[in-house]
Parts: sequence; C-alpha cells; structure tokens
Amino acid sequence: MYKTKEKIAVGVVGCGYWGPNLIRNFLNNKTCQQVIACDLDKSKLDRIQGRYPSLKVTSHYEDLMDSNEVDAVAIATPVNTHFNLTRDALKAGKHVFVEKPFTASTAEALELIQLAEKEGLTLMVGHTFEYSPPVVKIGELISQGALGEIYFISSSRVNLGLHRKDVSVIWDLASHDFAILFYWLKAAPLRISALGKDYVQRGIPDVAFINMEFPSGCVAHVEVSWLAPSKLRRTAVIGSEKMLVYDDTEVMEKVKIYDKGVDYKEPYSFGEFQLSYRAGDIVSPKLDSYEPLGVEVAHFFDCIRNGKKPRTDGYSGLRVVQALEATQKSLENNGHVERIE
Ligand SMILES: NC(=O)c1ccc[n+]([C@@H]2O[C@H](COP(=O)([O-])OP(=O)(O)OC[C@H]3O[C@@H](n4cnc5c(N)ncnc54)[C@H](O)[C@@H]3O)[C@@H](O)[C@H]2O)c1
Repeated sequence: MYKTKEKIAVGVVGCGYWGPNLIRNFLNNKTCQQVIACDLDKSKLDRIQGRYPSLKVTSHYEDLMDSNEVDAVAIATPVNTHFNLTRDALKAGKHVFVEKPFTASTAEALELIQLAEKEGLTLMVGHTFEYSPPVVKIGELISQGALGEIYFISSSRVNLGLHRKDVSVIWDLASHDFAILFYWLKAAPLRISALGKDYVQRGIPDVAFINMEFPSGCVAHVEVSWLAPSKLRRTAVIGSEKMLVYDDTEVMEKVKIYDKGVDYKEPYSFGEFQLSYRAGDIVSPKLDSYEPLGVEVAHFFDCIRNGKKPRTDGYSGLRVVQALEATQKSLENNGHVERIE
C-alpha cells in the first residue's frame, strides 16, 4: 500500500496558528507535489491564499478524502477533532501526519494505530521538538553516557497566554515536555502526580506542577503555565558525571554542559564522612542549524515513500497521551499518584 510516487500531494487541515507553518514547510519540500489547504473558517483560507495565491483551498474536509490526487493529510486542528479526522483519512487510504497531542484519549490512539497498521499507511505524530537540534543533541549526549547516570530532570515551560478554550495547559504545553523526556530517556514514566489550578477560566487548568518517576529511577518535574511574568523554556538535566541546562529562549547557546558534581567517598573509619565537589568547564556544544518542522515533514515523506516507521509514530503519540491522561486524573484527584501500565 505504500506510495512509490516521486512526489506527494498533501492536504493540510486547520489553517489557524500552526497549520500555516506546516503549509510553508510542505511547499518548501522538493518531494511535495502540491498542498491543498482546508479550514472550516473561510477567513483563514483567505489569509493563507493571500500568502500563497496559487494554493488550492477548500472548506470541506470530504473534498480531500474523495480526491485521488491527495496522497496524505496533515491535521492541525484542535485535539478533540484529531480522532475523527485521522480515522476518516486512514479509511480513505491517506497517509496521516497529526499534530500533538495525538488524540484526546488512550482508546482513540490505540484504535488509530491499529487502523493505520491494517491499512498499511504511515501514521506520524507532530512531536516537533524531537526534531529540534538542541533536543536531538541532548538525546545523543544522554545515550552516549556523557552525563553519566541521569538522576533527575527539571523543566519549566511558562509564559503569559495564550489561554486555550478547548484543553488545559497540560494537554497544550506538557505534551511537549513529555515527548522530549520520553525520547531522551527512551521510556515512559511508571508513575505520575500533578497539582494544578484553573485560576482564569473555570474548569480549564492554567498552571500545573507535574512529578514523574521512570523505570531507571530517574525522577522529573515539569512546570507548565499560561500565567507567568516572563517566558521560560528551561530544562536542567542532572547526571552523575555532568549537568546540563537547555534554555530554548537563548539565541546562541541553547545548551550548556557543566562539569559539576559531587562524589561520595566511602568512609575508611566510623564517623568519617567525605564529599568532594567538582566544578570544571562549562561547554556549549555546536548545534546544527535547521528548522525542526522542515526535517519533520521531510521525514514524513521519507516514511511514506520508503515504508519506514516514523521516529514519532503512533506509539510515541500514545505514550504521551497515556501520561497526559494520568496527569489529568491525578490533578482531578488532588495529586493522587497514578500508575501507568
Ligand atoms: N508542534 C507544535 O509545536 C505545535 C504548536 C502549536 C500547535 N500545535 C498543535 O496544532 C493543533 C492546532 O493548534 P492551533 O494552535 O493551530 O489551533 P487554532 O485554533 O489556531 O487553529 C485550528 C484551526 O482548525 C480549524 N478547524 C477545526 N476543525 C476543523 C475541521 N473539522 N475541518 C477543517 N478545519 C477545522 C479551525 O477553524 C482553526 O482555524 C493542535 O493540536 C495543537 O496542539 C502544535
């Protein structure tokens, strides 16, 4: 069932905030035959056509499903629409790229994975950060053991706005951190707990403090909020050998590796207690320079044409959705620790 076509025609559904970034990157890709933009809101279509006058547009999703010209569909609509749109596209024989978070529930994610496998179609989830140079670099450093054993990770993703009306800050922002952490640690957490509040819009939490423990023993803390005086995109990774800070708001030195740590020396005699502190060089590794979304759409095409498994496939989307569900459950139960099976 995999397409062996040289060029691929893509329908992009949802031309709100994020969809236009996908359209730009598809149009910039040499493997892209054409893009057809779809949105229920005519004003969004007018705006995107203003930018790309030759772009075909439609308000009807069915037009993409019925068209033999369309090989693949990219979905950038609110999460509560992802399941129906993805299911219909797979049933119509289209390969699907669906934005994060993959689905609104674990059951939906499992059903879509099974459907894609049955139809022999590519299903990829838009975990953009997994394609970004600093995140890829840190993943390599962790895999190579450059930081030693990973003790813990602490992450802040906060800013003022944009308050969403359809999902909480957990589904909106923590989905990024979860995808990054699970990719770095090559695992999902065993247990998770969260505290959060809905200060601005009743029923839609705008701040959450999330704690996790991974099979390796590594623990992680993720803070997400739409209520903060300034933008923070900061993650600290603490290893037994070295420590690292990833600051995505930095322009030049997004990653800094600190040769710092504490060594515990076994006492020779009772009562002797020795710790030795290390403070060496601070190194900022050279990072590749490319737009993550460009690499992501190129990977999607490569998977379609060559029958490859996407790096961020349905299962990678599923483990993020499972963790988001567990986080939400914990938050609704005053921080009760939820186990993830
Ligand atoms: N990968 C990333 O870094 C990243 C960044 C931002 C948003 N996103 C994701 O992208 C998705 C969209 O987010 P957004 O901020 O662009 O939302 P948005 O609300 O700005 O835009 C969504 C658009 O989808 C349209 N739409 C809704 N239902 C539709 C349907 N059935 N058919 C056609 N059009 C429909 C709406 O009219 C709207 O224009 C979300 O899943 C979000 O999490 C990903």
